[in-house]
Amino acid sequence: MEFLGHSTWVLVHIALFSGLCFAADPFVNFELTYSFITASPLGVPQQVIAVNGNFPGHPLNVTTNNNVVVNVTNKLNEDLLITWPGVQMRRNSWQDGVLGTNCPIPSNRKWDYQFQVKDQIGSFFYFPSLNFQRAAGGFGSFIITNRPVISLPFAAPDGDIILLIGDWYTQNHTALRQTLNAGKDLGMPDGVLINGKGPYRYNTTLVPDGIAYETVSVEPGKTYRVRVHNVGISTSLNFRIQNHNMLLVETEGHYTSQQNYSNLDIHVGQSYTFLVTMDQNASTDYYIVASARFVNESLWQRVTGVAVLQYSNSKGAATGPLPPGPDDLYDKTFSMNQARSIRQNVSASGARPNPQGSFHYGSINVTDTYVLRSMPLVTINNTLRATFNGISFVNPETPIRLADQHKVKGAYKLDYPKKPLTGAPKLDISVINGTYKGFIEVILQNNDTIMQSFHMDGYSFFVVGMDYGNWTESSRGTYNKWDAIARCTAQVFPGAWTAVLISLDNAGAWNLRVENLDRWYLGQETYMRIVNPEENGETEFSAPSNILYCGALKNLQGSQNSSNAPMLITGWKLKLFFTLLLTLSAAISISC
Ligand SMILES: *[C@@H]1O[C@H](CO)[C@@H](O)[C@H](O)[C@H]1NC(C)=O
Ligand SMILES: *[C@@H]1O[C@H](CO)[C@@H](O)[C@H](O)[C@H]1NC(C)=O
Ligand SMILES: *[C@@H]1O[C@H](CO)[C@@H](O)[C@H](O)[C@H]1NC(C)=O
Ligand SMILES: *[C@@H]1O[C@H](CO)[C@@H](O)[C@H](O)[C@H]1NC(C)=O
Ligand SMILES: *[C@@H]1O[C@H](CO)[C@@H](O)[C@H](O)[C@H]1NC(C)=O
Ligand SMILES: *[C@@H]1O[C@H](CO)[C@@H](O)[C@H](O)[C@H]1NC(C)=O
Ligand SMILES: *[C@@H]1O[C@H](CO)[C@@H](O)[C@H](O)[C@H]1NC(C)=O
Ligand SMILES: *[C@@H]1O[C@H](CO)[C@@H](O)[C@H](O)[C@H]1NC(C)=O
Ligand SMILES: *[C@@H]1O[C@H](CO)[C@@H](O)[C@H](O)[C@H]1NC(C)=O
Ligand SMILES: *[C@@H]1O[C@H](CO)[C@@H](O)[C@H](O)[C@H]1NC(C)=O
Ligand SMILES: *[C@@H]1O[C@H](CO)[C@@H](O)[C@H](O)[C@H]1NC(C)=O
Ligand SMILES: *[C@@H]1O[C@H](CO)[C@@H](O)[C@H](O)[C@H]1NC(C)=O
Repeated sequence: MEFLGHSTWVLVHIALFSGLCFAADPFVNFELTYSFITASPLGVPQQVIAVNGNFPGHPLNVTTNNNVVVNVTNKLNEDLLITWPGVQMRRNSWQDGVLGTNCPIPSNRKWDYQFQVKDQIGSFFYFPSLNFQRAAGGFGSFIITNRPVISLPFAAPDGDIILLIGDWYTQNHTALRQTLNAGKDLGMPDGVLINGKGPYRYNTTLVPDGIAYETVSVEPGKTYRVRVHNVGISTSLNFRIQNHNMLLVETEGHYTSQQNYSNLDIHVGQSYTFLVTMDQNASTDYYIVASARFVNESLWQRVTGVAVLQYSNSKGAATGPLPPGPDDLYDKTFSMNQARSIRQNVSASGARPNPQGSFHYGSINVTDTYVLRSMPLVTINNTLRATFNGISFVNPETPIRLADQHKVKGAYKLDYPKKPLTGAPKLDISVINGTYKGFIEVILQNNDTIMQSFHMDGYSFFVVGMDYGNWTESSRGTYNKWDAIARCTAQVFPGAWTAVLISLDNAGAWNLRVENLDRWYLGQETYMRIVNPEENGETEFSAPSNILYCGALKNLQGSQNSSNAPMLITGWKLKLFFTLLLTLSAAISISC
């Protein structure tokens, strides 16, 4: 039993972490090996990114306050970083897995992430953040389950279902990258995948034969917790389950006021949790649909994900047309009203026993206002670029906090404008100078022609308002100051604005970006650097001992080789290798 021997070895090492200040919280350990495999989700063989040989990756399920160790092995022929959006990495942007915070993990190397999921619950997903790799896979669900001592604001579900939905191209990610590098548009995706699989053959003309589809098996009368993540590149999806109501209960770490939806728009990067009761008769199976939103349906028919919901006593296959989504190509009012209807459940306990709504964000004075405006793509220096405020971000060669620690001069600039720059768009390494403990307002003004998802790492923010047209000071009168949802990925409609409030209590350097992968790749991002001027060793962790060096500091890497060079795992066609260990220490949370 090689497996057991290996696990024991890991346990020995885990015991060594106990010297750290968060020792009282249990450790969980995952091993993720990233490699290329060939898969044919839409019937065309292509190179995809597998995690432990699986496409998509296995869900990582942890509990509030766990210390999480993820040993990542890079068997790709490219650099790799894994990011965990929504997982707040408190005081620990060193583990965030984006270029402004981490040097990349080179090919054929391993690197161990270690972070605590402090005071969090909810549904998130992890993915590779570099080189357009998310378009090839490498993603999986990341779930933070509540501690048993904190009750759920609903009856314990009878089972859990995870659905990763997203647009998909039959071209590999290198080819997609080349298209963007050549200044071209990616064009219409080739389909929508559900859990890495193509559509069920609901129509023999539209869906070719021989495509593997996802079947979700359920028991009649039972209620399931269904977690849905849009892991795609840039397509907003309308999600629905034929004949079934979906009771929305949670989004990206916060419980919502409970409302039934027959369909919900899920934008790129967003996660939602529903309770779905299997209360229909089993005369047939039912369709689960994720269809492209705000597009001409007759042109985009093939960009539809279809899975099957199958009762254990089902009498036959699903037949007939798919349940229709909203029919409002030129009127996005329905979608915006739906987004506004998502409210926080202010009386529910979240990760702590006190109600999650007891933080009165609506009465706190705003210390700074930033407008981040997106415009249609521009050409700068003969390359196609995407911008916020007229700046297309260039990643620093040395990660921001690492450069600070080693006093590297000029690694980045702290001069990010609070309003859109007038004048020609430019490439720059401008970063926002965030004030520690400030309470800021960020206005996302979308003058681009596509729906965008705005995301900030390290935080959740209150989505207090959104509307069409230009934001003005008087727009503040429309803000929801009581039960706005707190989340980490908000949609910004084209020709509209979204306003969010953020309490800057998490020191570090944090990525702000659009989740639309093409726009992000082309530079629509920046970072917010938040440093406690009275840092006493408690507001931010120091760099981890296994830190990788690059850029101006790459010569320091030499001393690190011993801890990173050994490749414990040989042969990349590993079977799924997945270790979960809990120490026996009490689940008492010690703040440190
Ligand atoms: C990726 O796609 C390009 C263009 O179709 C092709 O030339 C290349 O061989 C593909 N790479 C792999 C590893 O499949
Ligand atoms: C995650 O773990 C919890 C506690 O063990 C369990 O109740 C839940 O079903 C798991 N969720 C998934 C999606 O595996
Ligand atoms: C996983 O990472 C931890 C933390 O760096 C390390 O102590 C442990 O040895 C690693 N386990 C394996 C199997 O590499
Ligand atoms: C299949 O789709 C085609 C194209 O939209 C449509 O014309 C046809 O009626 C559909 N077939 C069935 C059986 O619904
Ligand atoms: C939601 O729909 C379910 C099933 O149709 C129903 O039983 C439940 O009462 C509804 N809940 C709310 C809050 O509307
Ligand atoms: C089962 O449900 C389907 C769809 O709602 C309906 O057409 C059918 O009549 C129902 N059958 C029974 C036996 O209730
Ligand atoms: C959708 O596309 C079809 C085919 O090009 C076209 O005939 C139709 O007018 C378009 N519909 C709308 C609403 O633009
Ligand atoms: C907020 O600002 C107002 C006006 O500037 C001031 O009167 C009030 O005391 C401030 N409130 C807090 C909580 O600081
Ligand atoms: C274009 O590139 C040159 C050389 O790399 C650089 O100096 C210049 O600032 C760039 N222009 C813009 C608008 O960013
Ligand atoms: C950043 O902001 C702080 C106040 O929060 C200020 O003291 C500092 O001078 C600013 N730094 C730069 C480079 O503007
Ligand atoms: C909205 O803002 C843009 C960019 O600043 C400006 O060009 C436009 O005129 C404004 N539109 C309205 C209706 O004020
Ligand atoms: C973008 O701004 C231009 C000019 O300010 C305006 O004409 C256009 O309607 C805006 N488009 C969107 C999608 O906001």
